[in-house]
Amino acid sequence: KKKKKRPIRVYMDGCFDMMHYGHCNALRQARALGDQLVVGVVSDAEIIANKGPPVTPLHERMIMVGAVKWVDEVISDAPYAITEDFMRKLFDEYNIDYIIHGDDPCLLPDGTDAYALAKKVGRYKQIKRTEGVSSTDIVGRMLLCVRERSTGDSPSHASLQRQFSHGHSQKSEDGGARSETRVSHFLPTSRRIVQFSNSKGAGPGARIVYIDGAFDLFHAGHVEILRLARGLGDFLLVGIHTDQTVSANRGVHRPIMNLHERSLSVLACRYADEVIIGAPWEVSKDMKYARMDSVYY
Ligand code: CTP
Repeated sequence: KKKKKRPIRVYMDGCFDMMHYGHCNALRQARALGDQLVVGVVSDAEIIANKGPPVTPLHERMIMVGAVKWVDEVISDAPYAITEDFMRKLFDEYNIDYIIHGDDPCLLPDGTDAYALAKKVGRYKQIKRTEGVSSTDIVGRMLLCVRERSTGDSPSHASLQRQFSHGHSQKSEDGGARSETRVSHFLPTSRRIVQFSNSKGAGPGARIVYIDGAFDLFHAGHVEILRLARGLGDFLLVGIHTDQTVSANRGVHRPIMNLHERSLSVLACRYADEVIIGAPWEVSKDMKYARMDSVYY
């Protein structure tokens, strides 16, 4: 008699503030270490106590994490550090096999490792942090775009940047140089796009829904519209406008995230089946594109 193997359940926690494709990539890697991924989203109070106030509140952060296609379950109000009690709860109630975090040091205000207990009992696994993106970096890009617009340098921007960088020390040390440039440090590779993509195209006769937009700084409102759009058919094709198109329509300081970054955020969303990386502005042409795509599949 063959015994049915129990699925391996892995746990990743985090703040997931101003959710970006680096977070999505962490969730993707975590999911690949098991069969089911449970994500703990840290409460607002715990974030405030450990690294300063988050930009996005818990309910928005919950929506963002829940919308990522590699996530199976979401726990709200997770603690910032894995305490003895919470670790027991993860093992006994949630049947968690491994606790996972990125390879960046995650220190508590007192300088101790937030994952020390999990490491001690041998239930900790690590994934590679994604280079070139962080909430601090995104805030830097946003502040720079405001600063470019206003006359002169506003001291409040620097203090806001400093305040936000609290708890992101290893990245903010060179923050001076970083925040002066709007050039993304992200290098898109074909492999990354494949990793984020769904393997299946639209089936024969599928009703393909097309929606286009900038999808800059992918947020809970974007998730909601993609969910609604997906509900109108069988397959959702999302057209992401080029950086030039976005600039032409929203001003020279937009987009904050470049075309490839915006495409990855949309691709990570469970409601998007496929993206056009650099979609044309005109809707009539868009529709033709969509139909061509369906023939292509
Ligand atoms: N993470 C990652 N790559 C990034 C940013 C975050 O792999 N560029 C991972 C972290 O290592 C962690 C998870 O995403 O396992 C959740 O991260 P979070 O708690 O939100 O914290 P930060 O590391 O502070 O992310 P950021 O600086 O972007 O706010």
